[in-house]
Amino acid sequence: MSKLSCIACQKNYEITENRVVCECGGLLDVQQDFAELKKLKLKELFESRLGSRELPDASGVWRYRELLFPTKKIISRFEGNTRLYPARKLSQELGVELFFKHEGENPTGSFKDRGMCSAITAGVSLGCHSFVCASTGNTSASLASYCAEAGLNGIVIIPAGKIAFGKLSQALAFGAKVLQIEGDFDAAMQLVNELGKQFDPQNPAESIYVLNSVNPFRIEGQKTIVFEILQQLNWEAPDWIVLPAGNLGNSSAFGKAIVEAFELGLIDRKPRLVSVQAAGANPFFNYFESGWENFSAVENPETIATAIKIGNPQSYLRAKRSIEETNGIVLEASENEILDAKATIDASGIGCEPASACSLAGIRQLAQSGVIKKGEKVVGVLTGNLLKDPDATINYHTGKLAGIEAKMANQSQQIEASVDAVLSAI
Ligand code: F0G
Repeated sequence: MSKLSCIACQKNYEITENRVVCECGGLLDVQQDFAELKKLKLKELFESRLGSRELPDASGVWRYRELLFPTKKIISRFEGNTRLYPARKLSQELGVELFFKHEGENPTGSFKDRGMCSAITAGVSLGCHSFVCASTGNTSASLASYCAEAGLNGIVIIPAGKIAFGKLSQALAFGAKVLQIEGDFDAAMQLVNELGKQFDPQNPAESIYVLNSVNPFRIEGQKTIVFEILQQLNWEAPDWIVLPAGNLGNSSAFGKAIVEAFELGLIDRKPRLVSVQAAGANPFFNYFESGWENFSAVENPETIATAIKIGNPQSYLRAKRSIEETNGIVLEASENEILDAKATIDASGIGCEPASACSLAGIRQLAQSGVIKKGEKVVGVLTGNLLKDPDATINYHTGKLAGIEAKMANQSQQIEASVDAVLSAI
């Protein structure tokens, strides 16, 4: 039987308690029962579900339900099932075999939907009606959507004036209670952790269930990004998986998924994981560079990649384990590197929001320094859709970003409304 286990004090709980954090305040992990799972023909099972029109099999999260946690009822919006695009031009340029996993194709335009459907499922199974998160934007959009779908009270706490408009508009439109605070994401997160301490297991209906990635059931849903990549590659592990890193829930989920897929024999070797932070919000990079000696929060983080403008990531211990267990690497990318990478991904016709471009910025660094070797298979994860943050894109192309050399700027032209003017402009 799976269980919940504290990564700080090792206390165990029944999986069905659906707890968010340990009594000691430490983060919890879902621990799978590998002996039971090894009895199943998992690959055949997952293959047989592809192409199904019905839930749960038609969800790119619940298709892998045996690897998540037991639940009688599920909440789903057919999330996942995102494309894995071969990046042909960039592959040639960098001498590697590069793919982009476009998580911006999820129902609300980011990977958050995968962890949201699983964690809301866990909370609803407990009898909760009210759900809260702190967010730099995408988590709030996802929470709002799933609460609307399931008829629940969604509450989002966001740093006032600091989240991209595409995301704020989603949270408002989907009907969540949107609370803007003075302060940054880290302050909002602290507030949510305080609310979490007031959770009363005897009275879930009147309590507020926390949906940030401190919640272990978020991590379980997000693992399916890796499972889906592996299935799309016919269960042949890539050499590298590269993703942006902020609060470090996703880096935690990816490492856990890689280790589990390996332990269960779904793949015969582990891809190396690379987490890429923005240089202005880089506490995990500094921690890695210190040889895991000192973790210290970054005060007043700053980056155009507002999704990962986070100074005090909650899941740094879980994410450290992911990097260690996959022989991984942590990198930082400058604002120019992020925006160059974004412009390149955008110009390939796929597009992504600024934070997502950290993946390509990191891949470029590692390919140029020879750490990623010629011919290796690399998957870059694009975590959010281009349309999430149109301001960043427009300001880049109109040259309005201070200190940014917009090498790929594509300026629009104002012309007279005549055929001659069109012909002479093109
Ligand atoms: N990319 C995007 C587009 C994100 O929205 C986030 C996080 C990340 C990457 C980083 O993932 O936090 O698991 O390391 N966004 C959160 C939010 C913080 O509130 O939407 P992480």
